[in-house]
Amino acid sequence: MNIDLTGKVALVTGAASAMGLGFATARMLGRAGAIVVLTDIAGDEVSARAAELQAEGVQAIAHRHDVTSADDWGMVVGDTIKQFGRLDILVNNAGIAMLHRIEVLDLPQWQRQIDINLTSIFLGCKPAMAQMRVQGSGAIINLSSIAGLVGIPGASAYAASKGGVRLLTKALALECAGEGIRINSVHPGVIWTEMQQVAIRDNPAQYDIINASIPMQKMGEPDDIAAMITFLASDQAKYITGAEFVVDGGVTAQ
Ligand SMILES: NC(=O)c1ccc[n+]([C@@H]2O[C@H](COP(=O)([O-])OP(=O)(O)OC[C@H]3O[C@@H](n4cnc5c(N)ncnc54)[C@H](O)[C@@H]3O)[C@@H](O)[C@H]2O)c1
Repeated sequence: MNIDLTGKVALVTGAASAMGLGFATARMLGRAGAIVVLTDIAGDEVSARAAELQAEGVQAIAHRHDVTSADDWGMVVGDTIKQFGRLDILVNNAGIAMLHRIEVLDLPQWQRQIDINLTSIFLGCKPAMAQMRVQGSGAIINLSSIAGLVGIPGASAYAASKGGVRLLTKALALECAGEGIRINSVHPGVIWTEMQQVAIRDNPAQYDIINASIPMQKMGEPDDIAAMITFLASDQAKYITGAEFVVDGGVTAQ
């Protein structure tokens, strides 16, 4: 399948990490022809990622953007529309993983987890959907997780945030299903990014244990997720909305 996103404008949050899902997605969308707006709270790093894409001929810009700030969302979406006249694709990718058992998880940590992974998507969908309604078209892809589908001990706050993303996606999809706007969630399993490196930092032996526990015997690569997102962003997915897409090497099939 040849995906052509020429003429589309895409905004990807959390795109600063060179080995992260956000940058892999921005790169794949850009290589398919989209103009890409990369955003992240790490402003210098996300500018460097946009420069890498520009160097290979992709039209890309970057913004420092805290996804928990309604003002930042207004600025980023407003600037995108001002510069490019439209917003066709929003990938709500920015996220953190607060992996603590409830005995040590405190309220500020819980709140931060929910703010960054879940409230951010509410804040972003508001201005994005308003613009997409004006256009009569658009696609939003929200990053959930397999932790938004099944329970994982020690991940209660993360699981609550990602379970919330799953149903926020479905509810919003139904609010705009008749208006040409599609909204879906993607549920990665274990993908080797900085987030996973941090998670096993204190116990490197976990790397082999995790790989062995996956039915396909290996963690996924960022492009495995980017490919699913790029498909959902494209017109090839024109009849798909309010749905959840698992990319996990078979983990949740067990
Ligand atoms: N890697 C995995 O195995 C995996 C599995 C399931 C789901 N996911 C989800 O996929 C998404 C991307 O994960 P990743 O592994 O690439 O993570 P990552 O840690 O490599 O990258 C996340 C990015 O989000 C940015 N970010 C954090 N807080 C922010 C904020 N307040 N505002 C803006 N940006 C902020 C970080 O600076 C970072 O660049 C996340 O939502 C994550 O929960 C990842």
